[in-house]
Amino acid sequence: MLSEYVKKTPKSLSLYGIASRMMPYGVSSNYRYLPPYPLYLVKGKGSKVWDVDGNVYIDFNMAYGALGIGHSHPKLVKALKERFENSSILGFEFADTIKLAKIIKIRYNVDMVRFSSTGTEATMHAIRIARAYTKRKKIIKFEGHYHGSHDQLLVNVSPDKEGEKSVCSHGIPEDIVKYTLVAEWNNYDSVERIVRKDGNDIAAIIMEPVAMNMGIIEPDVSFLKGIFNLAKEYGILIIFDEVKTGGKYYSGASGYYGLKPDLITLGKAIAGGLPLSVIAGRKEIMSVIGPEKTAHGGTFNANPLSVVASIVTLTQILTQDSFYEVYKLNSLLSKGYKDLVEDLDIDITAVTWGASGTIFFSNYLPRNYREFLRIDKRIWYKYFWLMLSKGIIPMADYDEEWTISTQHNKEDIIKHLEVAEEVLRKIKSG
Ligand SMILES: Cc1ncc(COP(=O)(O)O)c(C=O)c1O
Repeated sequence: MLSEYVKKTPKSLSLYGIASRMMPYGVSSNYRYLPPYPLYLVKGKGSKVWDVDGNVYIDFNMAYGALGIGHSHPKLVKALKERFENSSILGFEFADTIKLAKIIKIRYNVDMVRFSSTGTEATMHAIRIARAYTKRKKIIKFEGHYHGSHDQLLVNVSPDKEGEKSVCSHGIPEDIVKYTLVAEWNNYDSVERIVRKDGNDIAAIIMEPVAMNMGIIEPDVSFLKGIFNLAKEYGILIIFDEVKTGGKYYSGASGYYGLKPDLITLGKAIAGGLPLSVIAGRKEIMSVIGPEKTAHGGTFNANPLSVVASIVTLTQILTQDSFYEVYKLNSLLSKGYKDLVEDLDIDITAVTWGASGTIFFSNYLPRNYREFLRIDKRIWYKYFWLMLSKGIIPMADYDEEWTISTQHNKEDIIKHLEVAEEVLRKIKSG
């Protein structure tokens, strides 16, 4: 399955040889290393990207969901050129940050906002804020949920074994993760068991409100509501990590489910591909931040380029109307996969949420990480390399999802489905 990819990408292979001598695995993020070697890209425009060999791909990865507006959106290009003429970073507060705070406050129904640059920073700070507010140490996370690359939450993100606490990186001391407790997604009892035992020591329950790092696994609404009630009983804060979901539905998962968590984090798509993240929530909780109170700092926090990009993205591009068009294209794609399943009699389950969707190579929709783990990854990799060699990046990895941007069109979806049909027929025929 890899031979076509290897034939088409000799320059990527050669760059990998050079890069891996200077950068571990030749990449800047572990997640971008896909054996045998990563794809090295040079540019993107609209719904497409180009690699160093001159191959063009229709991009459905969209920078792991960071590009809900597609590549090089003309409105953003114009606004950023103008902004850059007046400096990229000022070292004092940038006045337009207040405009952005107001936009986020209204759109995501939060009282107060602070800005950082990455999703990792946002979830790290959200936990610190929750601990400072509650004066408690422990936190609950869910198996299969990813919240970035910091020590306390790199626990049971993608464990192979069941029932054990599993740290996902070398170099993380046991002492640091002893306060991280792990529950099962969509299993209220697993949360209740932990809370009834340790509830008075638990500062927060953090979750991806729609799990998007094990494909897409929506929560049962009764499960979510049960957790909110339980948390209230024990004074535990709920943190929705909306780094992905916040840019895939107009007002994120909080808006979609009509829930108001104590804190939310945002990142990825909200700044049109520039680094900007948000920690936001109830006023009395956010008020613990401050000099000689709870630390939150960063040279690049709310840098003017990201702030302007976010204002333009949220007010002019990711509008309610544009989401409506995106959802239509998204349904077209998932319906196309569902039709293929019938035509080809192949075990695939397609699912969508907001601007995203995915396929599981199974005849069931997984409801938690254990069910997700049972699916054979090898078929996904066959599918991925074949799709790639035929000019479609379907998503970034077997646990990721596609993102439909405001610059995708019907032709992109039709092309995706034509290639998928060819690829799935090939997989079926062995
Ligand atoms: C739900 C979620 N939270 C946090 C992060 C971390 O964001 P970043 O990669 O910007 O640090 C990610 C990244 O994929 C994510 O999916």
